[in-house]
Amino acid sequence: MLRSKLILLAVLACVGLWLGQGVAIAAQNLLGQGTAPQVHHCALVRWLRLGSGPTLAELARGQDLYVGTAVNLKALGRDRRYRRRLAQNFNLVTAENDMKLERLQPRPNQFDFSQADRLMAFAADHQMAVRGHTLVWHRAVPDWLVQSDWSRDELMAVLENHIKTVVGRYRGQIVAWDVVNEAIADDGTLRDTIWLRGIGPDYIEMAFRWAHEADPEALLMYNDYGGEEMNAKSDAIYDLVQSLRAKNVPIHGVGLQMHVQANAAPNPQEVAANMSRLGDLGLQAQITEMDVRIRQPSSPDDASQQANIYQSMLQTCLQAENCNTFVTWGFSDRYSWVPGYFEGWGEALIFDDDYRAKPAYHSLVEVLKSHPTPTTD
Ligand code: G3I
Repeated sequence: MLRSKLILLAVLACVGLWLGQGVAIAAQNLLGQGTAPQVHHCALVRWLRLGSGPTLAELARGQDLYVGTAVNLKALGRDRRYRRRLAQNFNLVTAENDMKLERLQPRPNQFDFSQADRLMAFAADHQMAVRGHTLVWHRAVPDWLVQSDWSRDELMAVLENHIKTVVGRYRGQIVAWDVVNEAIADDGTLRDTIWLRGIGPDYIEMAFRWAHEADPEALLMYNDYGGEEMNAKSDAIYDLVQSLRAKNVPIHGVGLQMHVQANAAPNPQEVAANMSRLGDLGLQAQITEMDVRIRQPSSPDDASQQANIYQSMLQTCLQAENCNTFVTWGFSDRYSWVPGYFEGWGEALIFDDDYRAKPAYHSLVEVLKSHPTPTTD
């Protein structure tokens, strides 16, 4: 009884606040005074939106942090709750699949930007930044490309045309591009791909130079998995990007994908050391595709282990001088690549399949709340 009275009182107070704000904004407009009106949500509104407290995006604003997620364009189109959670919690988006070569260029030199444009429009409507993913990869390449017998020059022309068309279209609207994705095999050698076979190892630096020509402002990244800690793969990535820097190739950072397991936490000191050595080369380090998969069926312990991993990786990023981007590979377990690829694994994201915030979500909120806000000089 008392609780419902309290809720009614809070609702009335909120309505009063809204009306008050409306009157103040109208008065400002009439008098032609003041800057753009700012709507302040009261605590009840936030509670109704998410449970309680500020959202990830609201907290990230105070941290100069991009907190982002990969977007499934089908879900974006048909699922209202998906759109709402996305808009509330993230200030950066990337396309889970719709900026890959097979989607953007399904036929030779015939581009289809319809889905990528929808993402750009959603981002613009919600004042979100966009990461581009990905220009050069051995997967998500269409049959017309894989099945032809290209000469080196022809394949170079295909790649140059793709990169310049795509990057040029979104020039000035993409904060960072994953230019080359997963070019290094797990043993540290260059991965045997259509690009390496057809062009040779130089395809990597060519791709960065073409992307830079098409959008000189975008940050250009090398992106990979399994090289988050100090190990053979991250050593190979380090050697590659160091050699690119030495040749003045326009590369600005390394994406650490961070697809990990709840029962095998990455070592935060090692991730920090890896970020730091990249920083010494003048490169950014970004967490670009984080998810933490759990062996099914799960237990409550798994959820808290998962939360600890999300928390420690965000903390590691915030503590590094060269990490300002933390991206999860989706946000709701309703749409995750994990169960389809790893049989017997799932629940890898920060909202459950009914959009309820999981301990992992709350752990990220806690990190952002407790991390000191950077001072501006
Ligand atoms: O949309 C089509 C559908 O029309 C068709 O009927 C169906 C038949 O197979 O395929 C659907 O496309 C699938 C797409 O995901 C959307 O669900 C592709 O087959 C499937 O290969 C694709 O998988 C994606 C994978 O990259 C390969 O592109 C995953 O969703 C995506 O999460 C995954 O993301 C990668 C990053 O790009 C790079 N790092 C690793 C990460 C996880 O593998």
